Amino acid sequence: MKAVAIIPAAGQGRRMGKDINKQYLQVLGKPVLSHTLAAVFAADCFTQVIVVVTPGEEEIFRRDVLLSCFSGKDISVVTGGKERQDSVFNALQSVEEDTDYISIHDGARPLIRPELFRRSLEAAKNCGAVIAAVPVKDTIKMVDSEKKVAGTPERQKLWSVQTPQVFRRDWLLDAYQRARRDGYSATDDAALLEHYGYPVHVLEGDYENIKVTTPEDLILAEALLGRREVCE
Ligand code: CTP
Ligand code: MG
Repeated sequence: MKAVAIIPAAGQGRRMGKDINKQYLQVLGKPVLSHTLAAVFAADCFTQVIVVVTPGEEEIFRRDVLLSCFSGKDISVVTGGKERQDSVFNALQSVEEDTDYISIHDGARPLIRPELFRRSLEAAKNCGAVIAAVPVKDTIKMVDSEKKVAGTPERQKLWSVQTPQVFRRDWLLDAYQRARRDGYSATDDAALLEHYGYPVHVLEGDYENIKVTTPEDLILAEALLGRREVCE
């Protein structure tokens, strides 16, 4: 059984508002992306690791991540595209032919625990497509363009979706190819499979597995990782 990890890190980090891509901001003395990759290797369940970097950031990736933390590790590097979906599509072109499962995990989620990589891969072997998610804590409203509330979905049915998202390779390639042909786009990988009728299951994720998106997330990430160093 062969499984590949694809780590999209080819965004701009605009909502972080810093002059470098958030992937390379330091958390406890290491770039965000290095924490993520450390968990990928600690999971010890992948036969190939592909990192997607922003065009023009190959050198900072090589210097700050590859050479400083992962020299000697086998990491394929591909360049990303305009949207996250384009970045993942580029990575899919480098997936080895005999791969069975593809696990996609945001470079910007450095708090992933290796256990969740392993558990999600095991779950994908049973049902073909699984996504890590946690029940929402807040009530969520639908709001129209005039800021008028348009509805309140039942909270018990709402899950906040994370990564990893793990798929049978044949399902994911089919969905990505069809989406490209149809010009269909979505903000997560699972939505493409849902759109083409594949069953996708939710797996209990981890509230700590936050996506570092805005400045306060960095403070939270540092606090949570720091506590792990002391307590675990
Ligand atoms: N990503 C990517 N290629 C893109 C856009 C995003 O590989 N064209 C990656 C990001 O690097 C990140 C993950 O997808 O690891 C989730 O995206 P997001 O949190 O939105 O990151 P950014 O797009 O970098 O941030 P922002 O939307 O604030 O600009
Ligand atoms: Mg983005």
